[in-house]
Amino acid sequence: MPQLRVRGQKVASKARRTLLGLLMKLPGGHSDPASLLARFPDEALLPLRRDGLDPVPALGELRAREPVSRLKLPLGLRGWLVTGYAESREVLAAGPHIFSNDFGNMIGKVGIAAEQDPGGLGFADPPAHTRLRHMLTPYFTTRALAARAPRVRQIVDEALEDVARAAGSDGVVDLQRHFSVPIPSRVIMELLGIDEADRADFARLSTARFDFSGGASASLDVIQESIEYLREIVVRQRSDPGPGLIGTILAEHGDDVGDVELAGLVDGVLTGGFETTVSMLTLGAVALLRDRALCDAVRADEATVEPLVEELLRYLSVVQVGFPRFAVRDVTIGGKAMFAGDVVLCSLSGAGRDARQGPGMDSVDIARPQPGHLAFGHGIHRCVGAELARMELRMAYPALLHRFPAMRLAVAPEQLRFRDLSFVHGMKELPVVLA
Ligand code: HEM
Repeated sequence: MPQLRVRGQKVASKARRTLLGLLMKLPGGHSDPASLLARFPDEALLPLRRDGLDPVPALGELRAREPVSRLKLPLGLRGWLVTGYAESREVLAAGPHIFSNDFGNMIGKVGIAAEQDPGGLGFADPPAHTRLRHMLTPYFTTRALAARAPRVRQIVDEALEDVARAAGSDGVVDLQRHFSVPIPSRVIMELLGIDEADRADFARLSTARFDFSGGASASLDVIQESIEYLREIVVRQRSDPGPGLIGTILAEHGDDVGDVELAGLVDGVLTGGFETTVSMLTLGAVALLRDRALCDAVRADEATVEPLVEELLRYLSVVQVGFPRFAVRDVTIGGKAMFAGDVVLCSLSGAGRDARQGPGMDSVDIARPQPGHLAFGHGIHRCVGAELARMELRMAYPALLHRFPAMRLAVAPEQLRFRDLSFVHGMKELPVVLA
């Protein structure tokens, strides 16, 4: 990976080590979460806190006061939290000559071990990023997705059947388990070309990583286990290529891509495409079930589906913060002078509720002109699977509403169990009554 050359390299490295160490561990890593959280100033956790579906009010108050604010980090490191829409967009659009995503320049130098590099696209800068991303893009073109659409529709229908079957005699079923999880899980496994026999293991690994609340599960260990598992699949498919993305990349780029590198890339697709879409389906269902008029409107008119999905993406912004960016040179964003080496976090959920984008950002309104959103990020790291995710959501929400028109929450709204402090906001389960 390319080395980042910045003024104040020492400070930059220290900042990266501390922040990345904490970021990697936060989802429930090796350390005891209570002591980790104690090291992390409360204000730094603000973008990860939620009040049900909403970011906590303090995030909105901070954005109104200061859309780019200093983030207090341990050891007095310089960090920034960007909560405004325009300012976040500017950071994400700026490109790697101003903000770097690179993880590699720390390996072996500042106590970060090579095996802690999650690989994939999110922690890479060009040219490595460009090379890897080009390997993925053919699978996400309009044409490739159109060919996949009938199978996705079938997967949605199968999940709906499973929901109906799983309901107890009281009509209660966990919608997350039987609807939100199987749809993206099957879509991704089939896209990647992971055999039926391996899928149960991936479901287990994904769930372990997905469950950020327990604290005991070591997400770094889970990531490593997942990458090791994927590496074995890559090795197997190198001699016997399967029909999916893994096999095709090996057939086309086999000499240019190593086993671990491809496993990391695939792991990014697997996790990027799984947890996010699960959360969108579950949280989106909650947003729909509390608004009967919205459900009726979606059932009555297919043209509402597109704006509905865009509104839910913006409103829920399940990926709460983007990958950390490191200033490569001094730069001013939103009137704030950042120095080379500063760490910048964009609060995507904060940006999605920015009142400067128009009135009513804290509600779901499919009738107004759609404001822009950063739920898929922006710039060179913009979500590679955005159109696939849109396709899944555009099929799944209306199908659910048509199949179970009388569906309602099985518990009072205040009893719904949301995840705490996770990078991808979500729920632990979603009990509903079908009729
Ligand atoms: C509703 C579902 C999804 C949401 C909300 C979402 C959100 C995001 C966001 C915000 C980023 C950019 C983060 C940043 O720049 O800091 C991103 C990147 C990424 N997403 Fe998604 N994503 C979704 C679905 C998917 C799917 C279905 C896939 C693959 C099948 C996927 C694969 C990726 C990958 C590989 C990246 C890294 C791209 C890069 O760094 O160049 N995501 N996603």
